[in-house]
Amino acid sequence: MNKTASGLDGLIAGETAISTLDHGLHYRGYALEDLVRDATFTEVAYLLLHGELPTQEALADFRAILAEAAEVPPAVVQLLQELPLHIAPIDALRTAISALAHFDEQANETGDTANLGKAIRLLGQVPVLIAARHRLTRGEEMADSDPELSFASNFLSMLTGQIPTARDERALEQSLICYADLEFNASTFTARIVASTGSDLHSAITAGVAALKGPLHGGANEDVLDLLLSVESPSQAEKFVRDAIAKKRRLAGFGHRIYRDHPDPRAVVLKDTCRDLATSSEQLRLEEIADSLEAVMWSLKQLRPNVDWPTARLYRMLGLDAELFTPMFAAARVAGWSAHVLEQQRDNRLITPRATYVGPAPRAFVPLRERG
Ligand SMILES: CC(C)(COP(=O)(O)OP(=O)(O)OC[C@H]1O[C@@H](n2cnc3c(N)ncnc32)[C@H](O)[C@@H]1OP(=O)(O)O)[C@@H](O)C(=O)NCCC(=O)NCCS
Repeated sequence: MNKTASGLDGLIAGETAISTLDHGLHYRGYALEDLVRDATFTEVAYLLLHGELPTQEALADFRAILAEAAEVPPAVVQLLQELPLHIAPIDALRTAISALAHFDEQANETGDTANLGKAIRLLGQVPVLIAARHRLTRGEEMADSDPELSFASNFLSMLTGQIPTARDERALEQSLICYADLEFNASTFTARIVASTGSDLHSAITAGVAALKGPLHGGANEDVLDLLLSVESPSQAEKFVRDAIAKKRRLAGFGHRIYRDHPDPRAVVLKDTCRDLATSSEQLRLEEIADSLEAVMWSLKQLRPNVDWPTARLYRMLGLDAELFTPMFAAARVAGWSAHVLEQQRDNRLITPRATYVGPAPRAFVPLRERG
């Protein structure tokens, strides 16, 4: 048996044509930076699911199907309303996606056409679920989904009840593009494992959300805000980081399994987005604190920021509560997870690795009556 790779570090676990972290980040061959500059999230979702960028006509059709899908069965809305108030939005989302399967006529079909249909429906439904839970738990009415708006603008307006400015819409769009896919990351690999058993798309996405919520993965973007807000000024950054290192505490938003020797390209592009968004003195101060923490983390630990570092500031500047940050990540990653489920089930082989056994050597069984 081969030597164990701790955390499967460096292990090639399969093939994919969807995205690669080699030489930055590319989705289906397109550089992230180009997509962030010129594409919409809807185009990127189409690209991930279909393999090619849409023509104008194909995009219009895709948008129409997404808009139609943005209907959530009343029973699922009721479930979101009745879940206890203390349940975090990401947990409510996981439950609601699982519940949605019970109302999807193709729930257990695993063919390509059914998978694609379900993926597009989920892509349209997930923002509605997140916004519905957010508003209902505050005693507010659900805001209608508007098919005329872009994915990002519609998502923000369902959350806040107001149509965002073009600048805010574009900032959200860019963050969603950055979150849309990342090769065999933990939640995507989880979704692929589920898909490899022949299970259904909703189950795979539910499992993906379950893996995403952990603080080492997507849950980090919520912790980043706590961290940033606990540093009062740029001059306190060094003491803060030294204390954390002394306590062997990990700082959310830093470090990455793959982007070690090179910057996380998502963190680089979204830092610029944050720069453009920050206008108030409080926002500008938070940018300065973030810069100082980045500089100190680099000089003391040679660790760079990952995607969750800028998105926490970005979402705060869009007026979102921290508990919504990981659900925003999930809404974008539905595109990537679904593309991977489709790819896995097109050419499937059950994913079942081995383990290096480190337990007791074979030994004689002692019946209970003789064990005293
Ligand atoms: C993402 C992450 C889980 C990757 O972990 P990994 O590839 O297993 O990295 P390792 O555990 O091998 O860490 C290597 C070293 O860097 C340190 N390190 C890694 N991330 C760190 C962080 N965020 N803060 C402080 N130290 C960190 C580790 O303690 C270790 O140091 P050591 O060699 O002195 O013990 C890790 O960087 C992390 O916990 N980051 C914070 C959570 C986060 O932002 N997650 C979102 C990722 S997109």
